[in-house]
Amino acid sequence: MEGTQKDVVIVTGATGSMGAVATRKLAAEGKHVIMACRNTVKAEALRWEILKEQPEASLTILPLELSSPTSIQSFVRSLEGKRITALFCNAGIKAHRYMQNEEGYEMDFATNYLGNRLLTLLLLPLMPEGAHIVLMVSLTTKLARLDLRWKERGEREFGQLSTYGSSKLALLYFAIGLGRRHPGLHVNVSDPGVVNSNMITMGRWYDPLADLFFRPFIKTPAQGVQPALRALQSEHTLKYFVGNKVKNMPARFLHSPLVELLWKQADTLQQAYLTDKTSSTGK
Ligand SMILES: NC(=O)c1ccc[n+]([C@@H]2O[C@H](COP(=O)([O-])OP(=O)(O)OC[C@H]3O[C@@H](n4cnc5c(N)ncnc54)[C@H](OP(=O)(O)O)[C@@H]3O)[C@@H](O)[C@H]2O)c1
Repeated sequence: MEGTQKDVVIVTGATGSMGAVATRKLAAEGKHVIMACRNTVKAEALRWEILKEQPEASLTILPLELSSPTSIQSFVRSLEGKRITALFCNAGIKAHRYMQNEEGYEMDFATNYLGNRLLTLLLLPLMPEGAHIVLMVSLTTKLARLDLRWKERGEREFGQLSTYGSSKLALLYFAIGLGRRHPGLHVNVSDPGVVNSNMITMGRWYDPLADLFFRPFIKTPAQGVQPALRALQSEHTLKYFVGNKVKNMPARFLHSPLVELLWKQADTLQQAYLTDKTSSTGK
């Protein structure tokens, strides 16, 4: 891999609206960026675009499908022996309808929470003291309710915003648990606000109207990703980056018993998650 002397930053979902801005910016700062993407053709096109603008940019593309534990494990295996100085967990989805990953978990939950959690935990041995981890949360987190019956929740309980918000809330609780367990790392969350990207499409008849009357007034991806970029360089830990502010984690999240409850549940779940996959592939 190129750039082993440089800071190495992983950007998941580098092909997305905010991911592409972050990748450009981090490469321009001289960092080696690992573009962790599910669509490597799209990633290659972006890499070439950036190389045209910045011939010195140091970029590697590695395939990563966050809803798949197998893909996450092989992504991490391909980094063996590397030193990762920052991880930007940017990739995420807001599914338009109820879908499951191969292991039977609802897709938002599998991607935004279980996938990010597994990826981060598997990467920890490669991250030195002082490394940065930034997880993307959302405004919806503040309105969400956490329901720990993950696998039992079916189609009838699915709602685009409520399910998405719940998966991001679980991610926020994960960030708090992680920061507590690893005080030597800078673990922060970033809330980009409402940003003009594919993410805000609802897959409904009124999308064209929203595009006309709503999109022009919301943040651009370049604006939305700013708090995350600041968090990636911050000396703080366990902070909530939003707009141009660095806020404390809201006390109701920081002191919630759900942080530890969820951590324990997810440890068990993750074990089963990996075992399920291993047995179903016959390995
Ligand atoms: N837009 C907003 O208003 C908003 C608000 C709050 C939080 N956020 C969060 O900000 C982050 C970036 O969002 P965005 O607005 O830039 O959205 P976006 O343009 O849709 O980008 C999302 C990125 O995530 C990738 N991705 C989705 N599912 C994946 C999977 N299973 N495995 C690997 N990669 C996957 C997408 O890959 P493809 O390119 O292959 O589709 C894309 O690169 C997300 O975590 C989102 O939840 C966004």
